[in-house]
Amino acid sequence: MGSGIDVVSGEELMRALAAKVAPKKIIFEGVGKTKNDLILAIKKGIKQINVESIEELLLINKTAKSLGKIANVGIRINPNIDAKSLKKISTGNKKDKFGIPTTDLNQVVIIAKKSKNINLKGISCHVGSQIFSLSVYEKVFKKIKETARFFINNNINIKNLNLGGGMGFDKTKNKKFQIKGFKKLVDKHFRNLPYEISFEPGRYIVAESGTLIAKIITTKKSGQSNFIILDAGMNIFLRPALYGAHHNIVSIIKRRASINYNVAGPICESSDIFGKNVFLPKQYTGDYVAIQDVGAYGSVMSSNYNSKELAAEILIYKNRFTIIRKRQKIKDLISKDIIPRWLGDFH
Ligand SMILES: Cc1ncc(COP(=O)(O)O)c(C=O)c1O
Repeated sequence: MGSGIDVVSGEELMRALAAKVAPKKIIFEGVGKTKNDLILAIKKGIKQINVESIEELLLINKTAKSLGKIANVGIRINPNIDAKSLKKISTGNKKDKFGIPTTDLNQVVIIAKKSKNINLKGISCHVGSQIFSLSVYEKVFKKIKETARFFINNNINIKNLNLGGGMGFDKTKNKKFQIKGFKKLVDKHFRNLPYEISFEPGRYIVAESGTLIAKIITTKKSGQSNFIILDAGMNIFLRPALYGAHHNIVSIIKRRASINYNVAGPICESSDIFGKNVFLPKQYTGDYVAIQDVGAYGSVMSSNYNSKELAAEILIYKNRFTIIRKRQKIKDLISKDIIPRWLGDFH
């Protein structure tokens, strides 16, 4: 659709490049970029590296100098704004690890002016995910504009403003992100200003694109609760266990009676629960259920906890489908283990 990509690790940068995204359309953010990540980004001449600390700013200048290049950089500010979202996915509070505090911007100006191998041209701000309050964005927009003016007043030519992502998506609570209101807000604050504007929405674009189909391994009753135990657990889809996120769960098979279930995975953790008090038609071992809207922070957060294999992924497009990732096999996992010969001494 003509968009670029916002990456938050060197590995994501390599993925984006492998997918043939033009370097000039890649922005690199992230609080822990390694020197090798920076070398790759600078060599490839990506659009912008968004800096998250003073130390990183100095390192980028040094790295670019050693490569004989000039790196385009933006400053990710920490505006100390509460995203009014979940604590674990809020990133813009002064206690969070992200961004440069606005109190340090004088120092940034001094360094930027002295550093010959960086071209400071952007401001970015991302205060978290699952944001539904437009007043949060209004506060962020004001802070970004104020910061841009501060740099311009200090003779640093800010050309682009990255307004972040975080646009919320939550079907279970019937919450809707007010996209039209958001557009109005962007127009109100930026329409007549000479900046290039960009956004980094993730979930809002891809959440609905994924569905997790899981098989019922067993059913059981514990106290008053009816459990169904699936073959997919928190290893395959972590959000409910990690954030207490709610996702709709539906039965694949249509049957009449409706029963109150706790839907759980097979992992040895009590938090491995996808939903409590979920009303489904009567389910039997071998039936399938679908956990909906797992397209964002789903597959990418999956793990081999309990030595479980990662699930296969199937792309469905119009009336076609293809397996785009094979189900992992335990032998693939075991083959990566290295057992030192000297351990034999203990046998
Ligand atoms: C820097 C940055 N930008 C954008 C996003 C996308 O957030 P969301 O999926 O909530 O829109 C993230 C998510 O972690 C991020 O870290």
